[in-house]
Amino acid sequence: MLQNIYQPHEEHSKDARIKNMEEYHALMNEANTDYEGFWAKYANEKIDWFKPFDKVLDESNAPFYRWFDGGKLNVAHQCVDRHLDSRKNKAAIIFEGDNGDQRILTYRELAYEVNKTANMFKNQFDIKKGDRVVLYMPMIPEAAISMLACAKIGAIHSVVFGGFSAEALKDRIIDAEAKLVVTSDGAFRKGSPYMLKPVVDDALKSGCECVKAVCVVERNGEDIHWEDGRDYSYNELIKNESPVCDAEPMDSEDPLFLLYTSGSTGKPKGVQHSSAGYILWAQMTMEWVFDLKENDTYWCTADVGWITGHTYIVYGPLAAGATTIMFEGVPTFPDAGRCWKMVEEYQVNQFYTAPTAIRLLHKMGADEPKKYNLSSLRTLGTVGEPIDPAAWKWYYDEIGNGKCAIVDTYWQTETGGHMISPLPGATPIKPACATFPLPGIMAEIIDENGEPTPIGEKGFMCITKPWPSMIRDIWNDSDRFVKSYFGDCKKDGKPVYFTGDGAMIDEDGYITITGRTDDVINVSGHRMGTAEVEAAVKKHASVAAVAVVGKPHEIKGEGIFAYVVLKTDDNVAIEALAKEINNVIKQEIGAIAVCDDIVFVPDLPKTRSGKIMRRILRSIAKGEEITQDTSTLEDPSIVKTIESIVNSCTI
Ligand code: WTA
Repeated sequence: MLQNIYQPHEEHSKDARIKNMEEYHALMNEANTDYEGFWAKYANEKIDWFKPFDKVLDESNAPFYRWFDGGKLNVAHQCVDRHLDSRKNKAAIIFEGDNGDQRILTYRELAYEVNKTANMFKNQFDIKKGDRVVLYMPMIPEAAISMLACAKIGAIHSVVFGGFSAEALKDRIIDAEAKLVVTSDGAFRKGSPYMLKPVVDDALKSGCECVKAVCVVERNGEDIHWEDGRDYSYNELIKNESPVCDAEPMDSEDPLFLLYTSGSTGKPKGVQHSSAGYILWAQMTMEWVFDLKENDTYWCTADVGWITGHTYIVYGPLAAGATTIMFEGVPTFPDAGRCWKMVEEYQVNQFYTAPTAIRLLHKMGADEPKKYNLSSLRTLGTVGEPIDPAAWKWYYDEIGNGKCAIVDTYWQTETGGHMISPLPGATPIKPACATFPLPGIMAEIIDENGEPTPIGEKGFMCITKPWPSMIRDIWNDSDRFVKSYFGDCKKDGKPVYFTGDGAMIDEDGYITITGRTDDVINVSGHRMGTAEVEAAVKKHASVAAVAVVGKPHEIKGEGIFAYVVLKTDDNVAIEALAKEINNVIKQEIGAIAVCDDIVFVPDLPKTRSGKIMRRILRSIAKGEEITQDTSTLEDPSIVKTIESIVNSCTI
C-alpha cells in the first residue's frame, strides 16, 4: 500500500546523516549482529571520556542493566566544556522572554555561568556528589544553567514542572530528600507576572526538613516573602563565585537526574536516569532525528519540567553543540503567530512541539503562518501524543510548505530519548505514524505470549533489549521499577520492557501507536495518572467515591472525565461542587489536572469483588455503545442510570 507516503526530500537526503533506507537497514543489521559492538562504537565516538569504559553492557542483575561500566565522564563537560575549543563563540542558548526580552549565551558564557553556579552550590549550600537538588523553575536560562551546574559537581537534579502545586512539589521534595530548592520569584506569562516562590514557601511549610536552603533567581522582580537563614538570592551569591570549576569525574552509571512521572497506580514515580547512557542517546537522537547541522538554530517548545525539555532543550542539543532556543512564553501570546514570528526572526531550522499546540495554533490562527517567512525550516517534530492526520497535514503544508520532513517521535520519560521516529533524510513517511524504531532500538509489538502480533492487530509496545538511555530505577522503589516495566511482557521466557502503550504494525512494517493500555491519560501531551487525580478528588469532604477516565478532546487529545459519588445528595449545589472539586485538584496537583467534565452519579459500576469497571465508564464518557458484559456487575442497572445522567448533565 504505497499511497499517502511522503518520500524524503532529495535536498535533505543528500547530506543527511542517514541518507536512505538502505543505510538505515545497514545500521539495524549492525545492531542485530553485534549489539554491544554497535553501542560501543558510538559511545567511543561520541563521548569525551575521562576514562574509557571496560564493559559495554552488564546484564547480570537484569532488569537493573548497567552500561559502559568502568568509564568516567562528566555530562556538563560533554555538553559545554568540550565545545570550548571549536565553538566558544557560538550561541548555545537563545532565550526569548514572554515580553520579547532576549538573551544569548555563547558556549563560553554558558561555561562561565555553569561554573559559577556549580561553585555556588558547592560553597554556599554544601552540595556534594549524589545530593539531590530540586529545581522549580520557569523557562529561563538559569534553569538549564542549574541543571548543568548539578551535573558538573555530580549532584542529582529533580526538575519539577512550574505548573505543579505546592502539594505536588512537596511530595517530590520529600521523596527525593532534596537538600536545596532552586526557584525564581516567578516569571512572565501572557504579558503578566506569575509567581513560583510562594508555591515553594507553601510546600516547605511542613515535612520538608531535608531542605536546608532555597536559592531564588530574580526574574520578574515582584515582592516575595523572604525567610532569613533559609532563602538566598542567586543573583547576589553568584557574584562572588569563581568562573572556574573542575568537572567531577562521574561513573557511567551515576544518576544524572530524577524526573517524576505519572504511573497507572499510586503516586508519581521518580524515574532515575544514568549519566553515560542517557547523554549518549540524547546526543545521537538529536543528530539523527533532527538531522542537525553545525549552523542550525533548533527550537523545542517544551518546558524543562518535562522529559522533552530535559533531553531536547538542554542535554541533547548542548551535547551535540547546537544552538537551542528557550522560550518563556506561550505560543498564543500576543497572538497565534508568535511561534512563526520567532521562526522567521531566529531563522529556526528545526521546530519541535506537541500535537496539542499544532491543533491550537491551527484553530486560533490558520492565517498566521502566511504572514511570516518560514523558509528556514527543514525538520518539524511532534512529541508526546499521537498526531491526527488533519493536524499533520496542516503542519506539513502550512508550516513546512510541503518541504519539511515531519518526525513523529514516539518515546517516554523512561526511555530517555526517542525510540520510534522517522529519519528526515531516509524514511518515507506515512502521516500520523511513528514509522520505524531508531537504529539500535529493538522495539517489538508482541502479544501475551511474546509472539509478534499479526499485521493490523493491536499488541503491546515493548523494547525487547536494554538500551543505553533507559530508566535505571525508580527512586526509593526498586520493586515498583521491576513490577511497572518488567512485570507484564515476556519474550522467550524473559521479562522485557513494556512501555504501557498499545501499537500496531501495518503491511509495510510501519508502527502506529494506539495509546496507553493502562490507566494513564494523556492531556495536552502531559501524562496524568487517573489514580493521582482520583486521590485528589477524594480529598474533598463531600466525595464518597470517584473514578476518572480519559475522553477524546478536540484540542488536548484527551480531557479528564470524573464520575463522582457524593456522601449525601441532599441539597448540594452541583455546579459549585464541581468547581470546588477542581479547586482541590489544583491544590493537590496543579491546573493541568483539572477535569473537563465532572458528573455526579449514585454509584460506580463495580464487579461483585468491588473492582470498578473503568472500561464501561470510558465508553460512556465517549458516548459509545456499551458492548461489555454488564451481567457480572454488582448492580447492572447502574450502567443505564449513569448513561442517562451523562447524556443529560455534563458540567
Ligand atoms: C505518549 C513524552 C503517540 C505515549 C516524551 C507514551 C506518544 C507517553 C508519542 C509518554 C507519539 C509520546 N505518538 N503517543 N509520538 N509520544 N506518546 O513520559 O502514550 O510524558 O507512553 O514522555 O506519551 O509520555 P511522557
